Amino acid sequence: MVSVTFSAITLGLAALGSAHPSKRAIAGTPEYVFTLQAQGYPTLTLSATNSRTLSNLDFVFERPSVYSGTPAHLNETKLQFDLGDPDFPSGYGMYFQDIGDNYGITVPVTAIYAGGKDGFSIASDGTLGALTDAAFNHFFACNGTVNGEEILQLKWGVFKSNGENPARCVAATLHSFTPSA
Ligand SMILES: *[C@@H]1O[C@H](CO)[C@@H](O)[C@H](O)[C@H]1NC(C)=O
Ligand SMILES: *[C@@H]1O[C@H](CO)[C@@H](O)[C@H](O)[C@H]1NC(C)=O
Repeated sequence: MVSVTFSAITLGLAALGSAHPSKRAIAGTPEYVFTLQAQGYPTLTLSATNSRTLSNLDFVFERPSVYSGTPAHLNETKLQFDLGDPDFPSGYGMYFQDIGDNYGITVPVTAIYAGGKDGFSIASDGTLGALTDAAFNHFFACNGTVNGEEILQLKWGVFKSNGENPARCVAATLHSFTPSA
């Protein structure tokens, strides 16, 4: 059993999407925060937020002055989010349904406790890569409703057959950076 030292900062579940998430150091594992790069949008940070489904999180984009983003690390090829709660040690893995080549469709990107997809990677330029199951699969930032709030939400989807973005969405690239501890 590998011993892992967690930081003493324990913020509890109320801290989801908080302005001061724990920067928990996991020995030898770099922690990343992600920002949105999308046409017509300023730099926004990616934060995990409680969803209506137990043990599921949704992802929203917020101004960095309000939310500094939810840190994550790669565990093999799973992208695991670190919520700063000792009861949930980095157990939430990024997940989305496979959507094949259904033009114009989008599905929410979520994080599932003790789960998540394989196939994530961080390119040398810091871009988050995900395993695609069809050409034209992409991350999108979409106007949506999360917990009753109109907000920009992270989705996964397929461009329309004419190459346009899906409805209410803009193609998104997630750029990682390492927050200073
Ligand atoms: C990697 O994931 C496994 C299985 O979910 C977990 O037991 C382990 O603690 C994780 N390691 C890190 C460094 O997050
Ligand atoms: C989201 O809604 C806002 C406000 O109506 C609008 O300005 C923006 O263009 C929409 N974004 C997308 C990606 O559809």
